[in-house]
Amino acid sequence: MKRIAVFASGAGSNARKIIEHFKGHEAVTVALIVSNKPTAGVLQIAAEHHIPTLIIEKEQFFRGNAYADELKEAGIDFIVLAGFLWKVPAALIKAFPKQIINIHPALLPNYGGKGMYGNFVHAAVIANNEKESGISIHYVDELYDHGAVIFQATCEVKPGDTPDTLAARIHGLEHQHYSNVIEQLLS
Ligand code: GAR
Repeated sequence: MKRIAVFASGAGSNARKIIEHFKGHEAVTVALIVSNKPTAGVLQIAAEHHIPTLIIEKEQFFRGNAYADELKEAGIDFIVLAGFLWKVPAALIKAFPKQIINIHPALLPNYGGKGMYGNFVHAAVIANNEKESGISIHYVDELYDHGAVIFQATCEVKPGDTPDTLAARIHGLEHQHYSNVIEQLLS
């Protein structure tokens, strides 16, 4: 059984989809939900599904062992970032080489980097009159939104779109694809 840890800072709609996708799965289980925010919606979702949680703190994440030992002790094989907004430190990448992936709500290499998350991304896409946006699933390296792209899917940017309407379309793509990509990578 491959044991996944899902890292999330926010509402956790992607985490929810991933948890539901792997419920009862024969080869993959969501074993841990990790968050840097004690009030994150994702923690409620974890509780509903009886999945253990780990709240991480800045000091240990960025200047300590980055929780690598705790994750190894929990038997984690693979880390999935789903709306996790802290940069992943080198210590964690070293401990889980090619075993950390992220989802980004735009077509990387465009609209990535520090400060580019959630509706800031969609506002920038709309401000530039892009006709198309999408999602990127990629390996995590030491730079924001930079590691090798594994999968992309596109959607239209419609006239009159606001960051919220575009975000809803992008969330639809994320929910449709993220779990399947994880499943393929782990099989
Ligand atoms: C998702 O759209 C994800 O792509 C984005 O945060 C949202 C989290 O939504 N991630 C980033 O912007 C990372 N740079 P969720 O909490 O409902 O899953």
